[in-house]
Amino acid sequence: MLEEPSLAVPQWSLTRISQFCEPQRIAVIGTGYVGLTAAACLASLNHDVVCADISESRIEQLSKGIVPILEEGLSDLIREMTTIGRLRFTGSNSEAVSNAQFVFLCLPTPEGADGSADLSAIEAVSLEIGPYLLANSVVINKSTVPVGTTFFVRDLIDRDDVDVASNPEFLSEGSAVRDFLQPDRIIIGAQSPDVAIRIADLYGDSSQPRCIVVDIASAELIKYASNAYLATRLTFINSIACFCEAVGADIRTVSQGMGADRRIGPSFLNVGPGWGGSCFPKDTQALIHMAEKVGCQLPLVKATVEANDEHMRHVATKVARAVGGSVTNKAVAMWGVTFKAGTNDIRYSPALKIANLLTGWGATVTAYDPSMPGPIEGIRLVSSKEEACRGADVLFVATEWPEFASADLAAIGEVMSNRVMVDSRNVFAIDEAINAGFEYTGMGIGNMRALVDESAK
Ligand code: UDX
Repeated sequence: MLEEPSLAVPQWSLTRISQFCEPQRIAVIGTGYVGLTAAACLASLNHDVVCADISESRIEQLSKGIVPILEEGLSDLIREMTTIGRLRFTGSNSEAVSNAQFVFLCLPTPEGADGSADLSAIEAVSLEIGPYLLANSVVINKSTVPVGTTFFVRDLIDRDDVDVASNPEFLSEGSAVRDFLQPDRIIIGAQSPDVAIRIADLYGDSSQPRCIVVDIASAELIKYASNAYLATRLTFINSIACFCEAVGADIRTVSQGMGADRRIGPSFLNVGPGWGGSCFPKDTQALIHMAEKVGCQLPLVKATVEANDEHMRHVATKVARAVGGSVTNKAVAMWGVTFKAGTNDIRYSPALKIANLLTGWGATVTAYDPSMPGPIEGIRLVSSKEEACRGADVLFVATEWPEFASADLAAIGEVMSNRVMVDSRNVFAIDEAINAGFEYTGMGIGNMRALVDESAK
């Protein structure tokens, strides 16, 4: 199915910078994080956008201004764009594309049973829209897809008068609108400079210096390589944090010292309970799978995935140690359920993986999350931080929501059976927790005893 990557790798730079952002007719297929953000942001850049999804209930909700995902600024932008008529929603893919000069595919590529990316949505939509596309339109893959998929789409569309291109999306949940409108870079993989320029023009003048135009295979791979690199970096810092605990160093200081090196930089060096979310887990697996298919081993990426699982087990063990070595029959209060703060997404959440380990070892877990997710098997969800802590033997801080850091720890301690805390994101200052009477365990803070003594002075 996938074409071998071409050996001829053109590396164009943009030869023309447009003077203004000419409004274009755009169809966005898919109303997930990427699709909704792309649709709303492209509308805000002056384009006429129609966004399609096969889920009728989702389209009905969106048409009423109800946005099903928690994403800063997105609901307001969608409502604003629909009100002024630059954005509308439809349940028909063919209707959406039939008048569009550009079609963005923003479809899910979930992890298949063997770790590969499941391309069934991409395949079905490409087959469906082919006959309805306008001559000279461009179909642009924004979904994270294995190398070769854009050519696969081209073959399924089967139209000589339509171009295909790759323009991967790098937005992070929680800052999606800002990431889309002020990206570090816009990667465009196209078969000709003309097509690349047409796509670059969609983002407006100010974005163009950030456009990097490459061949299609490289564009597709840049997305996977970026996510795998970031995941590796996090696994590295989480591993160093464990080492800090053993040798009496402090990961916060180590990260700061490392990040001050311009070659390293300070981002993505915050220790945590492990990485999760809708992208890193599936994209690392898909990259491993893709590489194996062409006989290429990626031992570092494999080790990163394994070490991340091991790290989550290490965090669960820390919780057990904090209550004397075993969590059997212990009540664990968990603050945070989502895979990180600022989202209501619980996909591959480290909090939930660790909660599963703890319940497997005999604990009960009562959790609170500010995004108030729906029922989750195996844990009891409550509606406040205090309620989660009532009668608890240990508080496990899993996610870095700002409202946790501002909690009144003395009052929280009052409702707990034992004032014990494992803070997997180092949300709290150690002296603050200790002054509120907590036995505090942070992450990667080796010389805890000295810090405790210091705070007691
Ligand atoms: C990621 C990529 O950043 C984004 O470019 C891509 O398009 C989709 O995948 P996202 O999944 O929204 O975005 O989350 P991100 O902010 O990257 O965090 C991923 C995981 O790493 C989370 O579990 C987060 O808590 C963890 N993390 C991140 C840390 O533990 N420490 C850090 O310093 C940063």
